[in-house]
Amino acid sequence: MSKMAAVMESGEDAFKQLFKFYKRRKPPPDFSDVIDFSGKVCTGKVDPIQLSPRAVSDAAASSVGLRPVRDWRAFGLQGFPGFIFISNPFQRGSQPFWIRQCLKTYPQKPNVCNLDMHMSPCDTKDIWERSVHSLSVLTCSSPSAPRRHEKSLLERLRWVTLGYHYNWDTKLYSADNYTPFPADLQSLSQQITLGCGFSDFRPQAGILNYYRSDSSLGIHVDESELDHSRPLLSFCFGQSAVFLLGGKQRQDPPTAMFMHSGDVMVMSGQSRLLYHAVPRIVPSPPGLLTSELQNPPSPPNQQNQNTPTEKSSVLEPVSERDWTVCLGYIQSSRINVTVRQVLGAEQNFPHS
Ligand code: OGA
Ligand code: MN
Repeated sequence: MSKMAAVMESGEDAFKQLFKFYKRRKPPPDFSDVIDFSGKVCTGKVDPIQLSPRAVSDAAASSVGLRPVRDWRAFGLQGFPGFIFISNPFQRGSQPFWIRQCLKTYPQKPNVCNLDMHMSPCDTKDIWERSVHSLSVLTCSSPSAPRRHEKSLLERLRWVTLGYHYNWDTKLYSADNYTPFPADLQSLSQQITLGCGFSDFRPQAGILNYYRSDSSLGIHVDESELDHSRPLLSFCFGQSAVFLLGGKQRQDPPTAMFMHSGDVMVMSGQSRLLYHAVPRIVPSPPGLLTSELQNPPSPPNQQNQNTPTEKSSVLEPVSERDWTVCLGYIQSSRINVTVRQVLGAEQNFPHS
């Protein structure tokens, strides 16, 4: 009997057991049952799925750093209708912009982050600049300088919320805790959902999770949004992870899959409210980050070259200095961005 079968045999709470199985360090688990969409998928559990290439022009896709929809490799999982896994639809060289946004731009005010919970707004005003400063002070310091340093703010960043700010204590969103959702991430999310055949997705809330190599995310369902008929998007950057997708009941046995940098997941329809978890961060496959994440020399300014029918790009060049810091960060960390529509088309928050 395989280790996996042994784990499953005890029956109850299969999800919890598999979570522990993949989280275990010593000895490390066998990953051979983890679906890897970046390679050949022939497990019998996976179906390639047809997207809607005509719903997104190549220019619109390119304006957010995505390849044409006809080139996206998208998969469904048997038994999980509405679940869509898009294996890295990003153009080579466009992930650096999104990673820079996640590390430098989105943690800035008016967005909210974990550091705001116990620090004054003035102390969390400039997470990026202060961290870059302390990191460079560190690299410049003499060998005699104390080697143990206080963690930079960037290293202490755990989450950022966007739009309707998720309240981690009440698990609620509210009308009066809202700041504008970033236009670039809104546009990226809309191209993804259009490509998947959803016509009017409204990105209203975002949660960024920052994982170190020993982090995990427990078993949960995302049900705080008031309208569950809209898809939920999940973007991954940096190090890889094992993702577990379970069923409608917490204890239902989950399916394990790798998420690599650039991968996008869509949980919609009957898969919108399934239990899921991230038991483990794993090193990204050799060469994957280096090939995908080359920060190309800034292209000539395309702004003036756009014809009236073309969409102007939201991508901005990432400076060498910024990219060096980002690269150092994702060498050992993973970033996950989930984008959610909170309210239905005609819906409002209930009066309290
Ligand atoms: C979440 C979530 C999964 C991930 O933020 O709700 O499930 O891949 N994230 O980090
Ligand atoms: Mn979730």
